[in-house]
Amino acid sequence: MSDRHDHATAPIRLRDYAPPAWRVESIELSFELGIDTTEVTARLHLRGDASRPLRLDGEGLELLAIALDEQPLDAGAWRYADGVLEVDGVSDGSVLTTRVRTHPAANTALEGLYLSGSREAGFLLTQCEAEGFRHITFFPDRPDVLTRYTVTLQADRARFPVLLAGGNPDGAGDLPDGRHWARFVDPHPKPCYLFALVAGRLEKIERDYLTGEGRTVKLVIWSEANVIDSCHYAMDALERCMRWDEQAYGRHYDLDVFHVVATHDFNMGAMENKGLNIFNAKYLLADPDTTTDDEYKAVEAVVAHEYFHNWSGNRVTCRDWFQLSLKEGLTVFREQQFSADMNSTALKRIEDVALLRRAQFPEDAGPLAHPVRPAEYREINNFYTATVYEKGSELVRMLAGKLGPEGFRRGMDRYFERNDGRAATIEDFLAALGDANDLDLMPYLAWYGQAGTPRLRARGHFDAGARRYTLTLSQHAQAHADLPEKPPLPIPVKLALFDRDGRMLALRMDGQTVGHEAVVVLDRDEQTFAFDEIERSPVPSLLRGFSAPVILECDYAPADLALLLTHDPDGFNRWEAGQQLAALAFDDCRHGGQIALQAWCNALAQLFADPTLDPALLADLLTPPGEVELAEREQEVDPAQIHALRQQLQKQLAETIGAFALAQRLAALEVAGPLQLDAVAKAQRRLKRRVLELLALIDAPTAQARADAQYRRAQGMTDRLAALSVLVRSDAASAADALADFRRRHADNPLALDKWFAVQAQLPGERALERVRSLESDPAFTLKNPNRARALLGTFASGNPSGFHRADGAGYQLLAERLVALDALNPQIAARLATAFNGWQRLEPVRRDAARRVLSALAEKPELSRNLAEIVAGVLK
Ligand code: PHE
Ligand code: ZN
Repeated sequence: MSDRHDHATAPIRLRDYAPPAWRVESIELSFELGIDTTEVTARLHLRGDASRPLRLDGEGLELLAIALDEQPLDAGAWRYADGVLEVDGVSDGSVLTTRVRTHPAANTALEGLYLSGSREAGFLLTQCEAEGFRHITFFPDRPDVLTRYTVTLQADRARFPVLLAGGNPDGAGDLPDGRHWARFVDPHPKPCYLFALVAGRLEKIERDYLTGEGRTVKLVIWSEANVIDSCHYAMDALERCMRWDEQAYGRHYDLDVFHVVATHDFNMGAMENKGLNIFNAKYLLADPDTTTDDEYKAVEAVVAHEYFHNWSGNRVTCRDWFQLSLKEGLTVFREQQFSADMNSTALKRIEDVALLRRAQFPEDAGPLAHPVRPAEYREINNFYTATVYEKGSELVRMLAGKLGPEGFRRGMDRYFERNDGRAATIEDFLAALGDANDLDLMPYLAWYGQAGTPRLRARGHFDAGARRYTLTLSQHAQAHADLPEKPPLPIPVKLALFDRDGRMLALRMDGQTVGHEAVVVLDRDEQTFAFDEIERSPVPSLLRGFSAPVILECDYAPADLALLLTHDPDGFNRWEAGQQLAALAFDDCRHGGQIALQAWCNALAQLFADPTLDPALLADLLTPPGEVELAEREQEVDPAQIHALRQQLQKQLAETIGAFALAQRLAALEVAGPLQLDAVAKAQRRLKRRVLELLALIDAPTAQARADAQYRRAQGMTDRLAALSVLVRSDAASAADALADFRRRHADNPLALDKWFAVQAQLPGERALERVRSLESDPAFTLKNPNRARALLGTFASGNPSGFHRADGAGYQLLAERLVALDALNPQIAARLATAFNGWQRLEPVRRDAARRVLSALAEKPELSRNLAEIVAGVLK
């Protein structure tokens, strides 16, 4: 594979960007599809400067024929080496024709054209983002080359009855020898990363959608026949998000058809190819018996995310891959708004902030840290990160907050209007938002250019005589090699002040009453803000709604946090106060302290007894920060100890609430009858799971008996999996039987089986490793399927700190061995799983040494892909 052995290649740098020498006005692509070999003919209509060489990207292509302006080219007129085809004698308006051969069934990297499923029953599909198109044909594979596509597919009709490509259908028909053809024309110029085709035996469901502009669009969801009944929820979600984008952003769909296809073999979540979205089945299929409530939400979110890309990504695309967050951060933000509108604003915000802290903060604090707009990369596939997506979304959220709903909408309208059909930059985005509001937003560019989570320090002072409360805010960048001198960032801090009875105070600043909440923007190193007519020392609530992606450092008294946890009218801010208090309570567990621990437990016991509280919110309030997040606060990380202390913390909580109250609540949450999927039923199941988990910590026999019964009677996957997880984690005698039952029951459903692998990979502590090893010899385990590899190895390495970080280093050794095997099949997945090593430098010395040994040995291996090599070298540094 030509990607190997070139670890030393120089990085690609943002500052070296130069516009393309040649553009491709239009392309006629034709495919003769076959499982083992596919032949691709491409006719490129070129525009450019004849004095500059024409260089096209192409990886691993077998060139069968090449012609310029219909004349076959002499061997001396072109060169193909190191992934580049150079052609002499091209002039403005020339047509270059190439014919190449590729090998879909042999493509285990799942990039370019590949086979999903078995040779007999599977189907062909493509994945081109970021640089997959060069595995299909010769082309300038960069997002700033926008081209009109005409695509003709030809294949055996019996083996490939369905032929799909992006754009509008433009004819189909029979060919001799049992073959047939279909043509698609996309009127919208697009970069090649948005090209897609699908061919095979697929079933469909379809629906007409009438856009707000009066266009009738045929929505079609395709899957293999056995799961087509699981596509209806996604169809409903698609219709909801299409309507929402019309209402919230005035964005309408722009083709006659919109196809969505499910595959079990996919490297990522899903892909927004123009007119032909392709989904990892995990984010498209949903059915009550095998899909959890959280997965239903994820399907809705990912369907929306990909659909929203039609404007934020496709109509307006990225100039280069450094601008990736221009489409990803913005689209994550749009999806977050949509999901909040469809479900609950507070719960969605909790979920997203928890994800940011669990996934992005650790990334930003370790050696893989990079700015939302990176300055350089070697392998772009390694930059589809939590920083680009999740932190990127937080930056858009700050801008939206600054402009307010109307100003933001005005700015977005301007952005889409100005950049439609163009490849844009982050600067274009800030300029459009700013210009539409007569504001200079360029100071926010600093957020895009620096790595690390800023720290926000807050100190309050109450002057009883002056009846004045002053708040001093200061910002502190994390020391990081990429930018020694970091300029101050604009940090919007949304705040409120509470009196000691838990009431929000009216805020007076500079002689003005500003309401009960205010946003102050800290844009220097340190600033002081004053609030007048305050009678008694208040409790500040800072960074409300998580108004900026920073780490807040404020010496809160536990009682103050408990007051916010019990009184804040906003669910998210309640949760946030509870998380901060839980962290202090965790410290108490370590040091034998009582004050914060008691405050946290008592406040939650009080809330537990409040029948008016939303059960889903209560479930989240009852969940302390996770082990990964708690580790972020430590100088020297001992994952086994963190696990033990967090268990102790939760045990204390369970004891404060009391086994009786927990069991009683559990019984009250039991509902008879068929499965309900409404918000109330989902909220109750969420709380039921949390209560069962807490009960298991203090009364295992009762909890296990309940879990047994719940497992047997469960009407849906949420309850069944929750019960199974409690049985497995609490070492119930019945766990083995339940696992065997689950394995049998869901043997034919890969997505359900993934959950069976994952639940066992999460077994806490030293036992996990042996379990993972034995699961590797289950006949259903394979490294070839990304979902399966992630379910077992990814969950173990990234989702089970106390299991993976064994003091003897055996967890590290196992992962390293599997990474080498996986890398030979699928470098993107290997690189992704390798990020589990991130943060090893902060481990306690014994584990740190073990990790260093394993990583150093891995880095020495000569055969690593560029993907894996970059991550291993990165974490090691
Ligand atoms: N662009 C996809 C998304 O976020 C992610 C993706 C990247 C999919 C690369 C495949 C390959 O929606
Ligand atoms: Zn995306």
